Amino acid sequence: MKIKTIDWCNNKIKLIDQTKLPAKLEYIQIKDLTSLWQAIKSMKVRGAPALGAAAALGVYLGVRDSKAKSFVGFLKELDRVSRYLGSSRPTARNLFWGLERMCNVALKNKNKPVSVIKNMILKEAKRIIEEDRSSCRKIGQFGAKLIKKNDKILTICNAGALATIDYGTALGVIYRAKQQKKNIKVFSCETRPMLQGARLTTWELKKHNVDVTLICDNMAATLMAKGEIDKIIAGADRIAANGDTANKVGTYNLAVLAKFHKIPFYIAAPLSTFDFKIKSGKNIPIEQRPAEEVKSLFFKKPIAGMNIKVFNPAFDVTPNNLISAIITDRGIIKKPYNKNIKRIAK
Ligand code: MRU
Repeated sequence: MKIKTIDWCNNKIKLIDQTKLPAKLEYIQIKDLTSLWQAIKSMKVRGAPALGAAAALGVYLGVRDSKAKSFVGFLKELDRVSRYLGSSRPTARNLFWGLERMCNVALKNKNKPVSVIKNMILKEAKRIIEEDRSSCRKIGQFGAKLIKKNDKILTICNAGALATIDYGTALGVIYRAKQQKKNIKVFSCETRPMLQGARLTTWELKKHNVDVTLICDNMAATLMAKGEIDKIIAGADRIAANGDTANKVGTYNLAVLAKFHKIPFYIAAPLSTFDFKIKSGKNIPIEQRPAEEVKSLFFKKPIAGMNIKVFNPAFDVTPNNLISAIITDRGIIKKPYNKNIKRIAK
């Protein structure tokens, strides 16, 4: 694809500053841990798989200058770096999966010199980048089998190239279907309050010549009632062992509407988004974000008084019974999710 969201270049993290889109495609270089933490928190880099790669590269940034001579000393620093990065955003499983992978590399090689372990950590982070590129393409390949010619597909937030390394999960399915000349049309929910659908999804779909129409979030039901939506595909931030799925707030609304209108509702995500230790969606930590995102960030004048209370969860949980199938890099998972998720994860 034409876009590479995050990469390791000249001893720095190079990433697209997504807060500048769609006005400007700007790459920034990150060479220290605090700047990376801030980039994650402020959503310069976002989307679960991209956060996994960012966290992994961030671990290397955080430990590369370590003066530790012994493994025990190095592990302490690694743990501190990992906890710090983990405190940036709590919901995306991939972020923690990335951190855990880096720590496991260190632990498995504890008998090697610290300098060697540092290099192995960087290698593993680069491996995560390559793996994401291929797993998104697999998701695209599996998911495109569900797409018929002339389908009209609704999506929310941005689960595309900008949320991964360069292809996407939900949008990966769309890119593959387009490549297969299925003549699909996409509707993108604007995705209040951070507008990832409006700012990012329409931008990247347009860039890849996909027919896309922007809607306000509260227009989805109208489209469905008119018979204008054949399928809904969303990404995921964390999927529990029973298939309950946390994704951008508003995803659950769409799943409820889909059930009422008898429209298939799909989740697309790599295995790295599954949290096998969490039995159900009730245990998924949901990030709360600042009130200014709702009241003022994208408006010339605040749309509500300074003293108005705001509820701003960044994600919601769609219960597994509303999900028609989960498209993964290992294949398509259908109900019963408890059993079939376990089987595919082996
Ligand atoms: O708050 P964001 O923009 O990081 O939320 C992103 C989403 O909800 C995506 O749908 C999800 O991470 C999947 S990305 C392939």
